[in-house]
Amino acid sequence: MEAHGERLHAADILSQLAAIGLEPDGGITRLLYDPAWRQAQQAVARIMGEAGLSVSTDAIGNVYGKLEGTDRDAPSFVTGSHIDSVRFGGQYDGALGIAAGIAALSKLKQSFGQPRRTLEVVSFCEEEGSRFPLAYWGSGNVTGCKPFAGSLEAADAQGVSLREAMAGAGYDPSAHRDCRRTDIEAFVELHIEQGAVLEREQREIGIVNAIFGQRRYFVDVEGRSDHAGTTPMQMREDALAAAAEMIVRLRKAALETGDGLVATVGMLEVSPGIANVIPGNVRFSLDIRHREETAIEDFCDRTFLSFSAIAAQHRVTARYTCWLSELPSPPMDAELRERLARICDASGYAHLEISSGAGHDAGLFARICKAAMIFVPSRGGISHSPLEYTAPEEIERGCDVLTQLLYQLAYG
Ligand code: GLV
Ligand code: MN
Ligand code: MN
Ligand code: MN
Repeated sequence: MEAHGERLHAADILSQLAAIGLEPDGGITRLLYDPAWRQAQQAVARIMGEAGLSVSTDAIGNVYGKLEGTDRDAPSFVTGSHIDSVRFGGQYDGALGIAAGIAALSKLKQSFGQPRRTLEVVSFCEEEGSRFPLAYWGSGNVTGCKPFAGSLEAADAQGVSLREAMAGAGYDPSAHRDCRRTDIEAFVELHIEQGAVLEREQREIGIVNAIFGQRRYFVDVEGRSDHAGTTPMQMREDALAAAAEMIVRLRKAALETGDGLVATVGMLEVSPGIANVIPGNVRFSLDIRHREETAIEDFCDRTFLSFSAIAAQHRVTARYTCWLSELPSPPMDAELRERLARICDASGYAHLEISSGAGHDAGLFARICKAAMIFVPSRGGISHSPLEYTAPEEIERGCDVLTQLLYQLAYG
């Protein structure tokens, strides 16, 4: 598809966003409602305005850019992704889907004017779960499918509650229920693959068929803090020694399933954290994913039985708190997948059906409306890292596929 005149390009929008939340040593940190997050959502709103979209922000800080259709009463076609990042993340995860969505709507408006059906691009406020023990705060409130157990009282690592953080950023904490949308016909998300399948198979576009389910827990191990010099080895209630054994056991059990299940401990807090004191308390995180819910369920049951046995051997206790339980997504919409495949074929883009081990906003939308995802390659499969990279021409191809699909849906 060729454009006429000046228009916004996804790679340029992305580099503007990549300057926000940039850490001194590289890497991007934009956490829900923090100053970098606020600056990024303000930049998104400004760029949406430059693209000629009507801009609005909902009660929790999701930013929308709208290109209203002539058929005002028909439901919208929405594209977009999330603005938040993991700590020390890359510039593509999430932000690329927003940049691509703005670029696509900018191009369609410039080339073809007002669509028949309304198109929207959304910058969701949160997806990663990197500040508070909840994830999908954006799309979860919009779809009404909330996989998180967290409440407004959930606190970040500094003890700031979600309620306080919302108020601090200028949002009314009680208004999150007003974000719900029931007027969306389809949600389409462009995202980096975050894996190396496209690169290995030398394909340019991934058409996602389904998204893995995941559960996230906190495991709290409680023992007793004692003097490191005077407490004999047999008398200790060492929470860290028990936790270490649990983590090794977890890895072994996940490897033994041999069917693609993945289990990760990414966070460990040791208290009191003093060299000459036996650790009395340990909290660690657990992230478990698989394409089938029953496999996740069975694995969690077996894991916690084995953890409790380890705890008993160490004379400590273990508590398990689930704060995120996301079912595997229903399949992405078959008709949209078919359209995407035809667009790729007609454009000469080598494509592949692919499933996603990473969670995405589109997975929640698949529960309430048609949903589709377009993947572009990630160099070396690297993601959730400052080393994330997707070449500009790969972005351009993904954006072209997205633009063509939205054209078919809204102008056809
Ligand atoms: C979200 O990016 C995830 O961890 O899957
Ligand atoms: Mn993402
Ligand atoms: Mn991510
Ligand atoms: Mn084909």
